[in-house]
Amino acid sequence: MDKILIRGGAALKGTIPISGAKNATLPELAATLLTSEKVYLTNIPHLADVTTMLELLGQQGSDLTIDEKLGVEIDNRGINNFCAPYDLVSTMRASILVMGPMLARYGQAEISMPGGCAIGSRPVNLHIQGLRAMGAEVSLGDGYIRAKAKRLRGAKIFLEPVTVTGTENLLMAATLADGVTILENAAREPEVVDLANMLTSMGAKIQGAGSSTITIEGVDELHGTKHNIIPDRIETATFIIAAAITDGDITLTNTQSEYLTVPIEAFRQAGIDIDLKDDGTMRIRKGSKLKALDIQTSPYPGFPTDIQAQMLVLNSVSKGISTVTETIFENRFMHVSELQRMGADITIQGNTVRVRGVKNLIGAPVMATDLRASASLVLAGLAANGDTLISRVYHLDRGYERIEEKLLALGADIQRLSE
Ligand code: UD1
Repeated sequence: MDKILIRGGAALKGTIPISGAKNATLPELAATLLTSEKVYLTNIPHLADVTTMLELLGQQGSDLTIDEKLGVEIDNRGINNFCAPYDLVSTMRASILVMGPMLARYGQAEISMPGGCAIGSRPVNLHIQGLRAMGAEVSLGDGYIRAKAKRLRGAKIFLEPVTVTGTENLLMAATLADGVTILENAAREPEVVDLANMLTSMGAKIQGAGSSTITIEGVDELHGTKHNIIPDRIETATFIIAAAITDGDITLTNTQSEYLTVPIEAFRQAGIDIDLKDDGTMRIRKGSKLKALDIQTSPYPGFPTDIQAQMLVLNSVSKGISTVTETIFENRFMHVSELQRMGADITIQGNTVRVRGVKNLIGAPVMATDLRASASLVLAGLAANGDTLISRVYHLDRGYERIEEKLLALGADIQRLSE
């Protein structure tokens, strides 16, 4: 298993591009199942989770052509397998995203039940309830969700709590349903909007994406499209923090700052100087002294849970005492004990942590536990005195494209050790 070794202390300097958003790519690859015409997606990030989704489509009979320009052409004329097996779903929970499209277009889907994961139990009851409301027969047994429907029908569905992939699954299913579907308390994430834009370009009739009520009028069929995936806002935020905590000066290209309004406001309050340009570039420097900031995660447009772990590192090296409250996932503080081993002064009280800024973090051997936790350990390693050896970096590869290459290009002392 690969490890990453970082010798902390180098100020990051230079320019790097932000990759396409993982959380838009996964539902959009699943959405290609809704048509037998070719779909061409560009700005696809090169990530382990994307490879897993491509493998899943391949197993189902998709013909995939990947080109040099980060594009993938998907031809789904040969779909003949409607199962998402345990080995793929257990590596990536987002495999559940094929359930809605499969059921809508082929009348059947068999998906291995996603289990718990490092950040909590993560149920999929809302995906199932929504499809049942649309007339699907759904049964659960021997670890599988089996769903059938002659043709789904429109329904009014209230989602509580707000669920991103739940909204996306039902949105995709509703595009081919008979009648109108209304999703209430829908997720408003930019990735949901990007998916809706792609579906609209395939002929779907969708209104309200980006608000908490999405109305979908089902159509008989969808056609092929070309779609360019939006930039990854979580990767962008991670590099903003990396620049600030290393006293760096970096420029990020291919960004979309409007997807990060709340975090950027928070980062500025914390003392980070962020200069937004019209052409999608962003220049980041540490402005004044970094100040610790109280944060509470919430669904979009609030502060993303996917930046909570990285925020703990920023607060750990900032002046003052802060609290960070996690409201989305019940067990998303696995990184705290590793950060403590690097000298961070953090205490957990229920779903809130209290962080007292320290002068310096200290390099140590640490273990990544989930995707965003791994990113926080990389950040801590960049800012720390001495060497940090991060093991289990396969978590990192799920969501960050070539992170060590990008950091190396910015002058970090970082290397991947393959065993
Ligand atoms: C997505 C993102 C993930 C992000 C998360 C929250 C993708 C591929 N992943 O995950 O990066 O951290 O949103 O922003 O887009 N819930 C239920 N029942 C359900 C579904 C969800 O109770 O059927 C609960 C979850 O346990 C959690 C909350 O809803 O407490 C939000 O989860 P959800 O938005 O569904 O997360 P994902 O879509 O899995």
